[in-house]
Amino acid sequence: MFASKMIVLLLSLLCFGAAEGAKILGVFPIASPSHYILGSALLKGLAEAGHNVTMISPYSQKAPPKNGTWREIVLEELAEEMKKRFENPNLFQKRPSGPLFFFFFLNNNRNAEQVLAHPKVQNLIHSGEKFDVVIVLQFFNDAMKAFASHFGGHLVLFSNTAPNSMLNPLVGNPSLPSHSPEVMMGYAGRMTFYQRLLNSIFKFATALNLNTLFYYRQNKLIQKYFPNPVDIADVLYNASLVLVNSHVSFSDAEPTVPCMMICKNFLDDAKEGVIYFSLGSNLKSKNLPEEKRDALLKAFHKRKEKVLWKWEEDVMPGQPSNVKLGKWFPQQEILAHPNVKVFITHGGMLSTTETVHHGVPIIAIPIFADQAMNARTAEEAGIGVVLPFDDLSEETLSSLLEEVINNPKYRENVKQRSTIMQDRQVKPMDKAIYWIEYVIRHNGALHLRVPYLHLTWYQYYLLDVFGFILLFALTAFVITKVICTHLCSRTRTRKEKTN
Ligand SMILES: *[C@@H]1O[C@H](CO)[C@@H](O)[C@H](O)[C@H]1NC(C)=O
Ligand SMILES: *[C@@H]1O[C@H](CO)[C@@H](O)[C@H](O)[C@H]1NC(C)=O
Ligand SMILES: *[C@@H]1O[C@H](CO)[C@@H](O)[C@H](O)[C@H]1NC(C)=O
Repeated sequence: MFASKMIVLLLSLLCFGAAEGAKILGVFPIASPSHYILGSALLKGLAEAGHNVTMISPYSQKAPPKNGTWREIVLEELAEEMKKRFENPNLFQKRPSGPLFFFFFLNNNRNAEQVLAHPKVQNLIHSGEKFDVVIVLQFFNDAMKAFASHFGGHLVLFSNTAPNSMLNPLVGNPSLPSHSPEVMMGYAGRMTFYQRLLNSIFKFATALNLNTLFYYRQNKLIQKYFPNPVDIADVLYNASLVLVNSHVSFSDAEPTVPCMMICKNFLDDAKEGVIYFSLGSNLKSKNLPEEKRDALLKAFHKRKEKVLWKWEEDVMPGQPSNVKLGKWFPQQEILAHPNVKVFITHGGMLSTTETVHHGVPIIAIPIFADQAMNARTAEEAGIGVVLPFDDLSEETLSSLLEEVINNPKYRENVKQRSTIMQDRQVKPMDKAIYWIEYVIRHNGALHLRVPYLHLTWYQYYLLDVFGFILLFALTAFVITKVICTHLCSRTRTRKEKTN
């Protein structure tokens, strides 16, 4: 009896001890604070759970875990370059619209090359080190997946946005153009015929672009920068796990395959009202066109509430007395404050998550990327309103402030979403750590993968089957027509003869 208990204990130690102190590499090479904040939160969580973590990213950690389980490979040049790009005041004038923005990224593999060619990264590649798990940020950089096979680790993907056309096919996640709006299209909820048409065209164009040009070029990078390179096709569809930063409390509910885990917001563990205005970490509100800034100031001046404005300089021309400026605000703490009546935001994923978490209604002024979709989703969920940047004026902003602050429905809706977001079986960080360790324990967890990953994109969408049916119907029609014409002309000639 005792012996068998001992054996069970030993066995479980053997099986479940395997994930203790794993070596984990995180590849988060995108110079965007919102990608970094979530990625580093996850990796720090893993380090604090006792794993030995190495992170490749443009930024360094201000409060790294102390006990020798945290190493950073910082690519400062990428951060500098991106900072310069966002200094550009033209960003507000010439905003690339959603799909164009997407295809711009899709046809630009400069970032991936910069990372792979970087001397620090090349050092790591040639160090002979091994990793148990390689976590790669899913963001137009599929060549990075070769790190997993190079270092002999299981591949885990991390996605900062809702499942999309770049991610879904890689793990066979159900995503038909009829029900699954693309992040970049800015649609949400039920789509009209016209939206489904454009959504389908976008999906097919993406699939075509990925499978002809994009993966081909990413593969060239693998061949150039890795010794004994694999082919991209061998790593592309080989992810053991996908961690996605979206949650039904905010994004629309969608089906997911078993290896895809939705774990929203790792940052959890972190008399007059206030209006909080911030365009996020990338955009500089000092670069706002003057007439837009004036519109904001005039609208704010009329209000009795205090306004907190994230502003990058010391002074602001024409600053009203109720407007307080700050180069940086502790956003979480501000949103958590009961006096905050409304958050005027660009609609970035991180900001929308935080606002839902704290139950603050929003006025969203989306600028680019996924912001239009987040803004539209927020409006459909009744937790705020969208103010298109081109329509921003003193009058439009004033009337929306009136509406969102005085109509209680926005606050009630967002409070309800907030309770949904916080009602969870396990904390998001614990969930992510559990599943990463699960992948290690079960040697890549191949059993979580769906069996139809071999389908090509046109097979997945049944284009070959519909093509065949169409061809068959056309042939049948033509044959029937030929036979008919033939028979008819014969009966006619016979009739003519009898006449
Ligand atoms: C590292 O430190 C954290 C606390 O910060 C602790 O929980 C963890 O067990 C430590 N890991 C190792 C490997 O000592
Ligand atoms: C973590 O990995 C690094 C790099 O391989 C190594 O130098 C360090 O000693 C490891 N730390 C622990 C606590 O095992
Ligand atoms: C694919 O993933 C499995 C499980 O992680 C791993 O054993 C295998 O080596 C990977 N294949 C390649 C080409 O990396």
